[in-house]
Amino acid sequence: MKRAIYPGSFDPVTIGHKDLIIRSTKMFDEVIVAVLDNYRKQSAFSVEERVAMLELLTKDVPNVKVKSFSGLLVDFAKQENANVIVRGLRAVTDYEYELQMAQTNRQLNSEIDTVFLTASADCSYISSSAVRELALFGGDYSGFVPKEVVPYLQKRFDGLN
Ligand code: PNS
Repeated sequence: MKRAIYPGSFDPVTIGHKDLIIRSTKMFDEVIVAVLDNYRKQSAFSVEERVAMLELLTKDVPNVKVKSFSGLLVDFAKQENANVIVRGLRAVTDYEYELQMAQTNRQLNSEIDTVFLTASADCSYISSSAVRELALFGGDYSGFVPKEVVPYLQKRFDGLN
């Protein structure tokens, strides 16, 4: 059984994240989408909301599980018996951060490897931070997020702009 972890903040989940989840499920027997629960990082959505969004949009994909984690990613991966971490690369600007993270994780646990999937061209400019900004200032974010995420954004941001 080849099990992979797809970690992230998912604050909120975008169509780029969804695209990577679906593509990963075709490469691995099981994909655990791991939502970072970081008390030090201010997030727009609670970890429970982020898990709920991801569960909603993957409910028809049998080999996906959504879990939250805190602490080190490699420790969570080991606990879940996953030896592959999946990350997306949108542009060269992602590369430096991703390389550093992949190498750090490999230093911490050499049995866990990171694989990178290139973002689909139509998603490569999309980010959670851009979605939050659009939502805050009344921009149209509907093409950036899966439809299941729209009510969460409306609840969180409507009335603030
Ligand atoms: O969606 P993001 O914010 O780019 O995801 C970053 C994430 C969650 C993958 C990363 O911050 C992470 O793995 N955090 C857990 C702490 C950890 O293991 N740090 C060591 C690697 S540098």
